[in-house]
Amino acid sequence: MASEFKLAPSILSADFTNLQLALSQCDDGGAHWIHVDVMDNQFVPNLTIGPPVVKSLRPNTKKFLDVHMMVIEPEKLVEPFAKAGADSITFHIEATDDPQSVIDLIKAAGTKVGISVKPATPLAEIEPYYDQIDLVLVMSVDPGFGGQGYIDGSTERIEKVKQMLIEKCVENRVLIEVDGGIKLHNAKEVIDAGADVLVAGSAIFGADDPVQTMKDFYLLGTH
Ligand code: DX5
Ligand code: ZN
Repeated sequence: MASEFKLAPSILSADFTNLQLALSQCDDGGAHWIHVDVMDNQFVPNLTIGPPVVKSLRPNTKKFLDVHMMVIEPEKLVEPFAKAGADSITFHIEATDDPQSVIDLIKAAGTKVGISVKPATPLAEIEPYYDQIDLVLVMSVDPGFGGQGYIDGSTERIEKVKQMLIEKCVENRVLIEVDGGIKLHNAKEVIDAGADVLVAGSAIFGADDPVQTMKDFYLLGTH
């Protein structure tokens, strides 16, 4: 199995009155990325984080800020999140009629580009863009809330994305990130299917010891 996966704790499940604590726990736990869930109460029913929060996070962490936009009209938020300090900006394929222009905007803004797919969206919809993006974010829950259960069938979708990336000879460049319902008990299955980056929110910040939980995730990659 791949042992070099990255963990991306989702601060959606952290205490919003103490994000500094979440950042230092990510340092102590050895997390590679910080996953930032942006919800607009339109693409999804929930309303969460905007560019000012990313701007506040930026000087307080050296980690890769992984912005997951669950918003309609993603093109309007690309520049604000890039200016706020995002390292990658991921948009949903279902949120736009013109994915190409969103990709172009994100590239022009100078961050990595990700495309996300909801569990019910055919993977063929993202296939035309594999050679232009840096990551595919495979949702393993319906986006909107932390703490949901991993949807059966997500593992097969991860395997399918991996296979498509191999067919296009971009498997060493395009990362597969998986988001939703990832816990210690199913993380190995997700990694074995081809995931490079695991998002985990409630499994980490809902745990009694978030730092030890991050270390436990990384131990999965060593045996
Ligand atoms: C869901 C978000 C996820 C969420 C994951 O819409 O995109 O990133 O924070 O939370 P858990 O790990 O609790 O499923
Ligand atoms: Zn997310």
